[in-house]
Amino acid sequence: MMTHQVVLIRGDGIGPEITAAVVRILEAAGAKLEWIERRAGLAALEHGDEVLPADTITAIREHKVALKGPCTTPVGDGFQSVNVQLRKTLHFYAAVRPVRNLAGVHTRFDDVDIVVVRENTEGLYSGVENEITPGVVTSMKVATEKGCLRISKWAFDYATVRKRKKITVFHKANIMKLTDGLFLKCAEAVSKDYSDIQYDTAIIDAACMRLVQDPTQFDVLLLENLYGDVISDLCAGFVGGLGVVPGANFGDDGATFEAVHGSAPDIAGQNIANPLALLMSAVMMLNYFAETMDDADSHRVAERIKKAYDKALTDGQKTRDLGGQLSTDAFADAIIERL
Ligand code: NAI
Repeated sequence: MMTHQVVLIRGDGIGPEITAAVVRILEAAGAKLEWIERRAGLAALEHGDEVLPADTITAIREHKVALKGPCTTPVGDGFQSVNVQLRKTLHFYAAVRPVRNLAGVHTRFDDVDIVVVRENTEGLYSGVENEITPGVVTSMKVATEKGCLRISKWAFDYATVRKRKKITVFHKANIMKLTDGLFLKCAEAVSKDYSDIQYDTAIIDAACMRLVQDPTQFDVLLLENLYGDVISDLCAGFVGGLGVVPGANFGDDGATFEAVHGSAPDIAGQNIANPLALLMSAVMMLNYFAETMDDADSHRVAERIKKAYDKALTDGQKTRDLGGQLSTDAFADAIIERL
């Protein structure tokens, strides 16, 4: 059985609690992983390092895969989000967030099955903000042809491999004619090479209305950075909230797997956070090993974990965000019992 080396970043806030639970479940499920522990975020600062230490970047470059808990971005001057920095530095340009109904978690809609593909390196996350004069500030939105073509191609390739039927781009090209206009132009150009996948576009304000009226009409969403950030959280609301939506950031040569949610300082240290979003991200990681390294064992372990958490949820074993009573650890135990 193949052993995979994975950089583990426990993160801040609820990060260490949910990471410990997920590591425990992975081990109990028989995943063959060797953890290379590195720091980022507040944990790194408290250790006297920079918010994103060079040896963390080096380790991810070397091992190519990381499982990451959420990191707090300190508010104030001089701190760029560690998460944004990490994705940009490593060129992990494609964020993927699958949003699906879960067994045993009843929400307003059934049959939600959306994949949000978010561009991770451009848009309003350039970090270039200026004070023109006191009381007048600007923020720069960046779009490059290279970046827009790259994410579009990634999304269409993903949709092809996953046998998805339709990609919809949400945009505001009627107002941001150059930046969103370029994104749209590139997506449309790429779509011509993929005749099996339907291509659609929608102006984001009206698209949000359609989304909340009936999310089942959408399949894969292709979004620039900020829209992807906002729409991912919105979509999480369809299936039970931020505690149940996993994510991954892919580059051409590696990936980090992390939940959509942040470090949840409001509930940190209380052993009540839901570890499921990070666990589902770890399942995505195992499937990534299965697909890229032809490792059938990783796929089997991933399926075992999925069945176990589905069973736990249908048995009513839930954390508080899903209306249950279980602590983070007790929910992890409930999953382990069902492996
Ligand atoms: P958040 O996602 O941390 O929390 C939003 C709400 O969802 C809170 O009420 C929280 O309690 C709840 N929540 C989140 N995850 C949960 C879980 N697993 N189980 C139960 N409830 C959960 O977003 P917020 O408050 O905007 O950000 C807090 C910090 O996290 C900030 O410093 C932010 O920069 C950082 N952040 C980090 C991300 C990452 O590392 N990828 C992503 C988003 C935010």
